[in-house]
Amino acid sequence: MENSESIYGAHKPVIEQKLKDILAHVDEIRETMTQSLGMDPVEHCLGRVKSEQSMREKCRRNNLPETTESALGKLYDAIGVRIVCAFVDDVYTIRDFIVNSGKYEILKEKDYIRHCKPNGYRSYHMILRVDGKYHAEIQLRTISMDTWAALEHHLKYKKDIGGRQALIVNELKRCADELASTDLSMQTIRDMILEES
Ligand code: GTP
Ligand code: MG
Repeated sequence: MENSESIYGAHKPVIEQKLKDILAHVDEIRETMTQSLGMDPVEHCLGRVKSEQSMREKCRRNNLPETTESALGKLYDAIGVRIVCAFVDDVYTIRDFIVNSGKYEILKEKDYIRHCKPNGYRSYHMILRVDGKYHAEIQLRTISMDTWAALEHHLKYKKDIGGRQALIVNELKRCADELASTDLSMQTIRDMILEES
């Protein structure tokens, strides 16, 4: 029965291995960059295979049958990696390392840092194709962007904000813009420190 076994079918261990490979690659990039920057550019990095339940739920939401074909071929975030950096420039440097590594086919890139979502969401998103048939979603962002996204995600599931909805949305957008401005200032300070050394 389709429903009793993993939506990833026999591919489950393979996608788990692909995730490990990507995380190992991120570690390599970190080490290379640490040499040139004198500091580790990555504050933290998380990887996950999308849970059975979330993948099935996403199939239904997208009017796709709950099959391995949908989970691996139609939806692109069975494998997800989030790389959180202290500084904005490092987001783009890591992006360049990923693109230039030749390890992946780059299916899609969305720069929600230069062009933030209307709600203020910022991140750099990439969809990679690995070995011709597997996909991974990479999210690159700064600590500030990550903090904001966590709060916004949390509030999205709070149903009881009622009449203050518009105010909260406005305040969140303002926070996102202030954080983005602070990220730029922090980047400038880092550049000055690097010039000194
Ligand atoms: P899904 O949202 O996953 O269906 O894909 P999509 O094609 O709409 O891609 P998009 O790049 O918009 O979002 C992919 C992922 O980025 C989401 O699953 C979230 O993890 C994250 N994301 C996108 N927009 C927001 C947002 O407004 N707030 C937060 N907290 N996360 C977001
Ligand atoms: Mg979305």
